[in-house]
Amino acid sequence: MLDEPILRIEGLSAQFDTPEGAVKAVKDVSLSLRRGTTLALTGESGAGKTSVGLAILNLLPYPGRITAGRVYLNETDILTLSPEKVRQLRGRDIAMVFQDPATGLNPVLSVGAQVEEIITAHLPVSKREARDRSLEVLAQMGFPNPKEVARSYPFQLSGGMAQRVMIAIATALNPKVLIADEPTSALDVTVQAAILDDLRQLQQRFGTSILLISHDLGVVAQMADEMAVMYAGSVVEFGDTRTVFERPRHPYTWALLGSRPRWDQDQTRPLPAIRGAAPNLAQLPEECPYLPRCPKATNVCRTEPAPALTELEPGHSAACYNTILHGDGDAGFD
Ligand SMILES: Nc1ncnc2c1ncn2[C@@H]1O[C@H](COP(=O)(O)OP(=O)(O)OP(=O)(O)O)[C@@H](O)[C@H]1O
Ligand code: SF4
Ligand SMILES: [Mg+2]
Repeated sequence: MLDEPILRIEGLSAQFDTPEGAVKAVKDVSLSLRRGTTLALTGESGAGKTSVGLAILNLLPYPGRITAGRVYLNETDILTLSPEKVRQLRGRDIAMVFQDPATGLNPVLSVGAQVEEIITAHLPVSKREARDRSLEVLAQMGFPNPKEVARSYPFQLSGGMAQRVMIAIATALNPKVLIADEPTSALDVTVQAAILDDLRQLQQRFGTSILLISHDLGVVAQMADEMAVMYAGSVVEFGDTRTVFERPRHPYTWALLGSRPRWDQDQTRPLPAIRGAAPNLAQLPEECPYLPRCPKATNVCRTEPAPALTELEPGHSAACYNTILHGDGDAGFD
């Protein structure tokens, strides 16, 4: 049962129709989140991680739209549901903690009212029951003084508290799937560790399946059972987290892992940057999008269309014509 996916994304593509052209933020992404596990989506800024998360819930903001693909929650194809049905699903079966706190919290409602709102929208409970349940949910998110927090307004919360409140709202109904978009970025390490711990506890208690979106490989390493690396809207490597960390096969993953700050390094040193810049998603080339930055490129990369994600060993895939082997020369740093 554990191996059975609860969420399946098949051939998902999405774009933003801008005056500069179609920004292809998600390109033919297929992924499965296994029941009770954590799948991380990682990659540089602009890789399309948030767009995947929003597309799953059909929440891409204008001028974004889904151009292809299916998203199954168990057997239900979310993308074919009416907006009303998606609203019913959201919060109860699948919930998202948004990267942008402005999307996640209403500035003019107290925290308690916001948690109660999601409860009363889905459950036939009295006002009092909703209030009790909301205090329970806040306590569950590690607030020792839930009544006080419930009375406060978003502007009165620290970054860490606001993030916890957003997680409390998203998990108030114990959804089966939680999409957590950068749940700890911009927080100091102590608060980050506490929030990751809360997420782990939620998972252990309720068997929540988590799609964790994070550009932070330290967070990915700590939290994820499996990981997908995105580049220019596509998944370029997928595998169980340990395997990908130990044996990255795509040159981009390798470069990302090399640019990660290590615990034994002087943390004040600047990170080595991956050479070159991420491509313009409105003008993606036919060939491999990593080509201009890739130290492993050969002729085939210049003449053939972008490589497809291909399984290299059971459960480990990469989209590259020249998958590297551990310990290969230049990883592509300046
Ligand atoms: N509302 C929008 N209008 C136009 N383009 C957008 C919009 N939102 C996102 N994009 C573009 O879509 C692409 C993917 O963005 P997305 O936010 O999904 O990336 P991300 O991997 O989540 O990045 P980050 O790590 O910075 O959060 C980017 O090129 C971005 O500029
Ligand atoms: S296909 Fe070629 S250019 Fe693309 S990542 Fe692999 S080696 Fe580099
Ligand atoms: Mg994002």
